[in-house]
Amino acid sequence: MQVVNSDANLSTAARYRELNGQLAALFAGERSGLANAANLCALLYQVLSDLNWVGFYFLQGDELLLGPFQGKVACVRIAIGHGVCGTAAHRKETLVVPDVHAFPGHIACDDASASEIVVPLLQAGRLLGVLDLDSPRLARFDQEDAAGLEAAVGLLLQSSEFGRLVD
Ligand code: SME
Repeated sequence: MQVVNSDANLSTAARYRELNGQLAALFAGERSGLANAANLCALLYQVLSDLNWVGFYFLQGDELLLGPFQGKVACVRIAIGHGVCGTAAHRKETLVVPDVHAFPGHIACDDASASEIVVPLLQAGRLLGVLDLDSPRLARFDQEDAAGLEAAVGLLLQSSEFGRLVD
């Protein structure tokens, strides 16, 4: 699929509308949660500015296990309640962290990361995992990013089956 990079002048909301339209086209006819999650990471990493990591962690028992991602190698297992990812998973809510160094217990996988957003994957209230984005720029993410990424995760969840990726 040809991905058209966004016009730099688009508003954040318009950028996510465009991106989520591309995601819907990417997911059409494919139910593999692994394949769709991998393509979602690739698209976000290509289209959104100022990112150094985008990826998934899937729930395995009482831990989050690394899934598809773009960026540097990352920590493989995160306990629920630990770090930004484990905290978002525990609370079942999106966390926007403007400065990761000010977040108690932040887990540093890439020294370049300065800010972070984590969106939980929730299906009928059940936690399946999280989507994590890191940026080298302080305060890179805001509530519009949260809304756009929650919509992207919603598309992924309605288009995909996760089977044994989640336990
Ligand atoms: N910073 C995350 C760990 C995952 S990496 O950023 C890829 C955290 O504190 O949970």
